[in-house]
Amino acid sequence: MTKNLYPVPQAVKDRALISNEDYLAMYQESVANPDSFWAEHGKRLDWIKPFTQVKNTCFEPNKVSIKWFEDGLLNASYNCIDRHLKDNANKTALIFEGDSPEVSYSVTYQQVHDNVAKIANGLKKLGVEKGDRVAVYMPMTLDAIYAMQACARIGAVHSVIFGGFSPNAIADRIVDSQAKVIITADEARRGGRTVPLKANVDEALARKDVTSITHCLVFKNTQADVDFDPAIDVWAHELTADLPAVCEPEAMNAEDPLFILYTSGSTGKPKGVMHTTGGYLTYASMTQEFIFDIHPDDIYWCAADVGWITGHSYIVYGPMANGCTQVIFEGVPTYPSSSRIGDVVDKHQVTVLYTAPTAIRALMAKGDEPYATNKRDTLRVMGSVGEPINPEAWNWYYENIGNSQCPIVDTWWQTETGGIMITPLPGATDLKPGSATRPFFGVQPALADADGNLLEGAIDGNLVILDSWPGQARTIYGDHERFEQTYFSTYANRYFTGDGARRDEDGYFWITGRVDDVLNVSGHRLGTAEIESALVAHESIAEAAVVGYPHDIKGQGIYVYVTPVEGIEADEELTKAVRNWVRKELSPIATPDLIHWTTGLPKTRSGKIMRRILRKIAANEHQALGDTSTLADPSVVDDLIENRLNR
Ligand code: PRX
Repeated sequence: MTKNLYPVPQAVKDRALISNEDYLAMYQESVANPDSFWAEHGKRLDWIKPFTQVKNTCFEPNKVSIKWFEDGLLNASYNCIDRHLKDNANKTALIFEGDSPEVSYSVTYQQVHDNVAKIANGLKKLGVEKGDRVAVYMPMTLDAIYAMQACARIGAVHSVIFGGFSPNAIADRIVDSQAKVIITADEARRGGRTVPLKANVDEALARKDVTSITHCLVFKNTQADVDFDPAIDVWAHELTADLPAVCEPEAMNAEDPLFILYTSGSTGKPKGVMHTTGGYLTYASMTQEFIFDIHPDDIYWCAADVGWITGHSYIVYGPMANGCTQVIFEGVPTYPSSSRIGDVVDKHQVTVLYTAPTAIRALMAKGDEPYATNKRDTLRVMGSVGEPINPEAWNWYYENIGNSQCPIVDTWWQTETGGIMITPLPGATDLKPGSATRPFFGVQPALADADGNLLEGAIDGNLVILDSWPGQARTIYGDHERFEQTYFSTYANRYFTGDGARRDEDGYFWITGRVDDVLNVSGHRLGTAEIESALVAHESIAEAAVVGYPHDIKGQGIYVYVTPVEGIEADEELTKAVRNWVRKELSPIATPDLIHWTTGLPKTRSGKIMRRILRKIAANEHQALGDTSTLADPSVVDDLIENRLNR
């Protein structure tokens, strides 16, 4: 049985950095006096030239501008590495746990420094300069982290592309960012299989509109044979062999870009969310320390991929800025068996574990046995991220992984927020399974109705944030207008998250999921528009509409309605071909779960597809379709209901 309140255990309270009294006082201070609050906390970083200005932000229509610490100079890689060398050069920085459980080794902060410096010098040798964009398409290996840190060191802007994306998606991102160099590896390993990273890059670079890349820097990982074009390809080990392990970090302005990360929206192509240096790093490091209650002897493990924002803020930047020891996991929670997470916790004596509900639900489906063989008694704090965690999964995580003694921090945030926004603090917040609870310092969440009125009390609404925080994205790369349009036009003077939420009588927030056309499939964010445009690019498809539906393990599944071009008869073979097409065009994570062929889609008289109806049918809730009188041809709906695939 899931209880509905878990008070902070005394043992956790005794050790915690932040008590409830601290939380309340600090929160109050953070929103009442943001300048002095963040001036104080900005000092957690080492600045080459200290800032004198703190907050300079504006959410007003057509004037959106976000700047923090704008006259300060610093270097992110220096903060994540060099400053730890004085006292902690030999402290373990990264513990690599390979896809195969037989492979693991550790490196110290000094070794990280030397590796990063060599790669940074290598990038310089390839002509990369401050401000240039560098695409990174890497496996979850230490080289991926070194590559990102090396970019930060020389002031290059990395644009990491998740290793699960297909050549087309890689090419789109290169074209948009005009990256000069792409960093990749021969292959990635995942769950006992390999992914042909270099071959995917070759295919992306062959696309005619990809013209900005001068070099492809290739790391050896699996040692597989790959095509190699000496005109553009460079082996990382050869390039760096004779280069010095010293590279002066570039002095960056706090508002110089640190990275671009593409994410899906409700319309059009993925957007290059841009984060800058000073505010982002302050926020990533402060949230990591307080939310996971980090002490110097912790062994921290965030089981995310560096291809997503979680990997940026809570692997590459936050924990390293804090001088943590952390596990870097190449594999998946179910390989070679479902006991893997617990086995890794025991093997490396992990104290803090941060993972996603979809992983928890996948393990839960295998029963409790895999967790009878490991102890996990070193764990103190556990986190959840990426999607709403249902109380059953919360409870299973709490009891079976955390032995009923570790607080779970359910952290709500987004690529655009840079760091965690709504979350419990382990020593301060009584927990309710399924609730992200209360805002982090400086974050002012509110609920709004469709007309823009702010709602009071215990109620449901659209989640908005009233004022800026240091980790906030500054723009969409190359398209500030789209940035304003996407986040600041629905509600004037507020940041609109795209999520719905409920606030309960204790002021706790419960995230209910996206209110726009963005799907969350296994914690991966996908735009329905992107999947639709991949579908209609198939020669047999005339029209496509994509919606999400509730899925036990993935959270949301992908339900696709497609109309074939005239004369084409849809059969099983074509269905299979379409499924493979989307995998290839976009990514295996976008693979449709259900493909529903139809001769028509429900449209208004002006030709707009009524997605509300398609969502209901996909969710098997067609009894409650609501008003269909505005449809051009209501008979289409009966036909869709009759042939619905999710029953
Ligand atoms: O819908 C929310 C969901 O994930 C979206 C952000 O996705 P992305 O930018 O890919 O970042 C994921 C990792 C931070 C949000 O708009 N989401 C994220 N965390 C939670 C969540 N939904 C509910 N509870 C969460 N803890």
